[in-house]
Amino acid sequence: MKNKKLWGGRFEGASADITEKISASIHYDSRLYRQDIRGSIAHARMLKKTGILTGDELQAIEKGLEEVLAEIENGSFEFSQSLEDIHMNIESALTQRIGDAGRKLHTARSRNDQVALDLRLYVRDEGRAVRELLGALIALLAETAERHVETVMPGFTHLQVAQPVRFSHHLLAHAWALLRDRERLDAALAATSALPLGVGACAGVNYENDREFLREELGFESITPNSMDTVSDRDFVLDFLYFSAVLGMHLSRMAEEIVLWTTGAFGFIKLADGVTTGSSIMPQKRNPDVAELIRGKAGRLYGNLISLFVTMKGLPLTYNRDLQEDKEPLFDSIDTVKLCLEGMREMLATMEVESDVMKNAAATGYSTATDLADYLVKKGVPFRKSHEIVGNIVKHCESTGADFFSMAPEELKKFSGAFDDDVRESLDPASSTERKMSAGGTSRGEVFAQIKSLREKLGT
Ligand code: ARG
Repeated sequence: MKNKKLWGGRFEGASADITEKISASIHYDSRLYRQDIRGSIAHARMLKKTGILTGDELQAIEKGLEEVLAEIENGSFEFSQSLEDIHMNIESALTQRIGDAGRKLHTARSRNDQVALDLRLYVRDEGRAVRELLGALIALLAETAERHVETVMPGFTHLQVAQPVRFSHHLLAHAWALLRDRERLDAALAATSALPLGVGACAGVNYENDREFLREELGFESITPNSMDTVSDRDFVLDFLYFSAVLGMHLSRMAEEIVLWTTGAFGFIKLADGVTTGSSIMPQKRNPDVAELIRGKAGRLYGNLISLFVTMKGLPLTYNRDLQEDKEPLFDSIDTVKLCLEGMREMLATMEVESDVMKNAAATGYSTATDLADYLVKKGVPFRKSHEIVGNIVKHCESTGADFFSMAPEELKKFSGAFDDDVRESLDPASSTERKMSAGGTSRGEVFAQIKSLREKLGT
């Protein structure tokens, strides 16, 4: 005989197996147990305050819920699929322990406002943990940048050598993107700041309740203003999934560069053994699987966002069971961003930077051709003209095999009378970074300024 449902009063027939199977969320929403119990304790205190529960009943409920919590934490709690979800598993375990007081807990509450509360609390709790990991990664990038201010590498556009940049500048470019992610996370967390509990199923409850008391008890900033919107709204989950998708995109771009930089062709960095893997057939291999997986996981983060977007589209107000489909994408995105942030941090913290390889690569691909054109501009040649002159020099080097970076002033003078003996400096990749005068450019001073301002924003 199947368990009698908590909602079973008006039913004669038992649930079909498939109904139990398709309804059950306990195999994933069990992870909401802490938030569910925290919410129930606050709710019970409110019921005591408004006279629905006696002091003894409240005490029994609090004690019973603490015991259930301990059982779940030590792994001895038995979750039941036929009790559907975490809310009914906990309520039923409580009632088994304490009897009628447990049966009163659900007064003036619906699972609809209960789940809206649990999920907000969960996003807040996990969001804070993600925020820490993100902050630590940004801080690590700043610290690594600080150690590599003097390391010069080629900057790329179209993945072709463009202009020399400091390695620190490149690392900081990623740090700024991650700092924007942290702002997006803060916005997602701000979207959880209104308390949903106390609106009941959709219209409000038939008891005098005290949502202000609940707000205070659970640490929310305000209370939601409309009961129907409250039980329908999953915007805060979408906000978190959007934050995760953009973060995943940024991490995948970093990961792709790590993959490229560790190839024989680049050789800019070496990953530690701990974050690489071997091949089962090719003995020489050392593959950047962690980076590749971080690159790949962006896909599921996008998918999770789209999945909930599609679930939400066209849903009539207010609560519909479709909303239960919000949890797996959310949980998966939380787990995935945590994994990716930790993996990225481990790779960066343990990598070896091949400064000489970078330096040599900076002296390829005519990386100072723009500096040479700008040299001519400073000697009075209009930029379009100087661009063409340097283009001719590049063409000459390509056809004769002459080394661009060591061209003598006499040779250059054949292309333009504006070249002087002081031209050598303009060909040098190492000093190219110091010729950059823009705020936000790759000069030493600007890089140090970025590190400082990044740290101020991080609060470290
Ligand atoms: N497990 C459900 C969910 O996640 C809880 C709310 C169920 N409410 C209901 N009226 N069936 O959405």
